[in-house]
Amino acid sequence: MKMNDDLAKLFNDQITMELASSVTYLQMAAYLETEGLTGMGTWMRIQSDEEHAHALRFLQFTLDRGNDVAIGAMDAPVRPDGSVADVFDAALAQEQKVTASISDMYSAAQADADVLALPFLQEFLTEQVEEEAAVGEIIDRLRLAGDDGPTLLQLDRELGARTPDDE
Ligand SMILES: [Fe+2]
Ligand SMILES: [Fe+2]
Repeated sequence: MKMNDDLAKLFNDQITMELASSVTYLQMAAYLETEGLTGMGTWMRIQSDEEHAHALRFLQFTLDRGNDVAIGAMDAPVRPDGSVADVFDAALAQEQKVTASISDMYSAAQADADVLALPFLQEFLTEQVEEEAAVGEIIDRLRLAGDDGPTLLQLDRELGARTPDDE
């Protein structure tokens, strides 16, 4: 059963937002690797792949519901140039933006009593809580590390151990 046009538009926008997130994380990965933090770069590359996978899930759901897909225009990602903590702060801000966006979609689906979209969106909201917590924890640890090289390298090694299936 088709989604109403307004909700379908939000799904289309979300596909674009997830793709833009993927590109932003790839840009962050490149920056961190340039700074010698290859483990954090690996972490960001996996994050980028996950956002791409999210985009595909929103796209598939939209198609499965019989609605059209039109991917929107995207801005170039902001090129990081600050500290590692700044990069992860920007990552958290991005996740918060995504959480707000999916929350709005959930409200729209509720208003339309679209019970097919609600569980799909709920799954993403639950994942957003985990994503924000994971990035928040990294930020806390970066603050503790400060400018201490060995501690940063230790954290870099740890984050570099992330594999695509870890959450
Ligand atoms: Fe996502
Ligand atoms: Fe995310």
